[in-house]
Order: sequence, then structure tokens, then C-alpha cells
Amino acid sequence: MNLPRSAEWSALESHYQDTRHQAMIDLFSADPKRHERFSLTFGAIHLDYSKNRITSRTMELLMELLRRSEIEMKRTQMFAGERINFTEQRAVLHTALRRPPGYSMMVDGDDVSAEVADVLQQMKAFCHTVISGEWRGYTGQRITDVVNIGIGGSDLGPYMVTEALKPFAHGNLRAHFVSNVDGSHLAETLKGLNPQTTLFIIASKTFTTQETLANAMSARAWFLDETGSLAHVAKHFVAVSTNREKVEEFGIDPANMFRFWDWVGGRYSLWSAIGLSIALYIGFDRFSELLAGAHAMDEHFLNEPMEENMPVILAMLGIWYNNFFGSHSQAIIPYDQYLHRFPAFLQQLDMESNGKRVDSAGREADYATGPVVWGEPGTNSQHAFFQLLHQGTEIIPVDFIVSLKSQNPMGEHHDMLLANCFAQSEALMRGKSKAEAREELEAAGISGDELTKLLPHKLFPGNRPTNTIVLDELTPFNLGSLIALYEHKVFVQGVVWNINSFDQWGVELGKQLAKAILPEFDSDKAVESHDASTNALVNRYRQFRKGQQPPEPDQLTLF
Ligand code: F6P
Repeated sequence: MNLPRSAEWSALESHYQDTRHQAMIDLFSADPKRHERFSLTFGAIHLDYSKNRITSRTMELLMELLRRSEIEMKRTQMFAGERINFTEQRAVLHTALRRPPGYSMMVDGDDVSAEVADVLQQMKAFCHTVISGEWRGYTGQRITDVVNIGIGGSDLGPYMVTEALKPFAHGNLRAHFVSNVDGSHLAETLKGLNPQTTLFIIASKTFTTQETLANAMSARAWFLDETGSLAHVAKHFVAVSTNREKVEEFGIDPANMFRFWDWVGGRYSLWSAIGLSIALYIGFDRFSELLAGAHAMDEHFLNEPMEENMPVILAMLGIWYNNFFGSHSQAIIPYDQYLHRFPAFLQQLDMESNGKRVDSAGREADYATGPVVWGEPGTNSQHAFFQLLHQGTEIIPVDFIVSLKSQNPMGEHHDMLLANCFAQSEALMRGKSKAEAREELEAAGISGDELTKLLPHKLFPGNRPTNTIVLDELTPFNLGSLIALYEHKVFVQGVVWNINSFDQWGVELGKQLAKAILPEFDSDKAVESHDASTNALVNRYRQFRKGQQPPEPDQLTLF
């Protein structure tokens, strides 16, 4: 099946040609019910998608395309534990991790629900002993700081969630996250820490990731420097992994290992024991609420008709812009400081999942797949890159995310925050016409040549699409639903694009080449095994390491 060759795709292409000059502002004027028509509330989450360049016909055509992709069958396959990650022969069952007790969860004919429940129980007991202070460090002091060492999915999710749920922290523990192999990350984190009261979580699905192992070894060396005894490691290092052998090899007691399974993808793993840092920071009960919120969204995604299905709507709007308007970028702008890591988390979720150029049959896709996802919180981003959103040459669809309730009511701050958020979607949609801009300039006393010169710079084309996702409050439950909303959005888009959203072969080549380069820094002779650029970069650093000055520009061969 190749959707771009389908009649449904062609119908959308014609529809795009017919409607591409339609202004949203006119559609609003023509239809007083437009907001009701194009908005949806699920629990505490309201999605307003009325400021999109759509009509009811657009949505019908998008849903026809979706049906053609056999979404319902594929969704069933995912939830049933079939090996839909076909390049790695793995099931994709992160949704099983958040199902309440009583559900069976089949993987390869085995019910894994008991194993999932066991690990959750282990996490619960561990959280209790650490938070209550029962778990003591090697000098008998209680743990005050938890350092999660991991990268990618073993970092971005837990870090994003602990930042987002700071107001729900019990306050007995501080959480830190070290991911970058740049030693500065670990060094700066360790500066404020006492080994007697610090607990390290080494979080790695594979337990072979270079950065995580390097950071884990250095953290252990720091710890041993202070304590001088390997026997104390057990009180201060635990692991989260699928790889028991490697965990043991590293020197962590398997009794202090929290396991998960190969059917949990790295970027979908915060729901597993990879979420241990979250559970320690906010308490296991709050962590359970996060899981429950995600499960609620799973049920919504599974059971609601496509037309009223939030992840489906977000997915198909993304496809409308990416594949028909040629907008290959998606901005995520949370108007909530607690969600400041949400765009970074979504970058991995979306771009590692759907950044693929080969379809399920191994054919090169001749249509756009995953967009570039990026963003920063508002209002800061207004003073950074919103210029381009409003007046740049690209149309960049934006998702605004905002909470009605402030966690820190303070004077007019929250009102100002929301006013800015709502104003931005209005401004992107309305724009500013020539007549409006002229009137403004004239009112400011500008006329003649000066006005003529300034006028084009003062126009806003408008008609720029946005979704606004309004949460009643950023609670663990609602955050769980929000994350699952985007997970399913990414899944639906992957189905339509007919790609494997669950592998990540694209990260391997760089890893392989880095492994080859690393020993070359010790070489006595100039390295010549790469292209001229890479050789020069490697040799520049080799020389620097040897205490030699890097070559002067005139010593280099210039072409
Ligand atoms: O390099 C990409 C990746 O494989 C991600 O998919 C994953 O989340 C991350 O590395 C970390 O992997 P691990 O948890 O196995 O250390």
C-alpha cells in the first residue's frame, strides 16, 4: 500500500488546491459554531483545533485517508502485543505498563501482567524505604539526593516529568539528571553532592550505551574515592535495565536491579522502571496517577471514533500541513514553565520515531515523513523566535499547551501568561492587513514616503495554524494523559506514512564511527584513514592532547 498513490491522497491534494487561499478569519466569520465544531474535551484536557486551515470537508478527507491506512487493525496489533516493530522483531507494549491490575497482557503468547506488577511492587517498596529514610547510606545517613544517569529515553522522559511535577514532590529527595558524556555534566552535578547521602540510578535499557557507562564509571570512581570500599556500592547504586548480565558485570547487585523488557522502546520507557527517579521524587502514589492518566488516554485512543479521537485529530492535522502544505516543522510551545523540557522530550519521541525515509516494504518514501519538532516555553519564546513564526517565509504549525490553574499564583502573573498565549494564537491566525497597518502608522503620525517604506514590514500575513491544548491543571494524571496523547499521535502518523515508528537505526552510524575515532586520539602518527576534513579534525585534537599547538593556518594545505 502506498498512500500517496491512493485516491484518498489525491482527493486531499485537490482539496488543498481548492482551499489554500481560504482565510481562517473568514471561516470563523462564516461559521459561529466553528470553535464547537473543531474542539474536543477529554477529561481535564481541552483541544481547540479551530484555528487550523480546515473545513469539515478537510477533516472528512483526512479521515478517509486514515481509514485507508488500516489504522484500526494496526492499533489493535499494537495493543495486542504483536511484533509491529518489524525490523527488530519486537512488540510495542508501553501501553501495558500503565494498565490497571486485572488486565492480561500478552507478549508472544505469554501473559506478562504478573511480571509488570512485580516490578511495580519492587519500585513501590524501594520508594517507600528510600523516601521514609529506612534505606540508609553507608555511614547510616538517609538519602537526600538521587542522580539518574541515562541518556535519550532513559533521561528525557524522567527528567521532563520530574521538572513538570515539581509542585508534587514530597520534598525529602532532590533529583538530578546526568546524560551528556561531556564530563562537565557529571562534574557540575557532583559538586553539590555528598556521597554518603547520594543514590545513583544507572538507567539504560541495553546497559551498553557509551555515554551512560562512562558517566556511571566516573560516578562510581567519585564514590569510591570518598568511601574507599566497593562493599558500600550496593547502598548507593541501583540499575534499571533489560540486561542483567551487564548490570552484574558493572558491579551492581542484581537485587538492586529493576528490570523491564525489550517490548518497551527507550523513548516510551518512562512508564517502566525507567521512571524510578520520578517515583522517588514525587512518591509512588503520584507515579501511579501518572500511569493512570496515560491509561485513560489509551482508552480514549482505543475506543473513541476517529473523528472525536484527540491523538488522531492531532496526527491528521500534522499530516495535512506536512504533506499538503509542505510545512515540515512543528513548534511545541508550552505556556507553562514546568513543561520547559516537554519540547525536548517530544523531539526524541517524534523525530526518533518518525524520522524515517524508508517505508515498511523497504521502498524510499517519496513523501515527507516526520517533521522537525522544536520549541521552548512561552512567553520566553515570544522574545526569541516568534518573529519567524509571524513574519517568516515558512508556515510553522504550533501547538500551544497551557494550564488554567497556576501552581504558583502570584499577582497578575498567570493572567498575563494566559493572555499572551491566547493572543499569540489569535495573532497568528488574524495577522495584520495592509489597511490595519496603514491606519496604525497614520495614527502614529507617519505618512508619505516613510509610511510607504515601513508598510510592508508592518504586515502580518496571518492564517498560520495553531492548536491550543488547555489542561485544567498540570497534575500527574493530566501529564500522563498529555504524554500518551503525543505518543499516539506519533503512532497514527507512522501508520499513515507506512513506516516503522519503533526502531532507530539512524542513530547507529555515528556511534560506530565514534568508536573507531576514539582510539585514534592515541595514535603516534597522523591519522589518515578518513576524509580530509575528519582527518584534520582528529589530528588537531591529537596534537592538542600531546601538548602541541594546533597547526597554524599557513601550515595547513589550503585548497
Ligand atoms: O541512541 C538512541 C538510543 O538507543 C535511544 O533510542 C535510547 O533511548 C537511548 O539511546 C538510550 O539507550 P539505553 O537506555 O539503552 O542506554
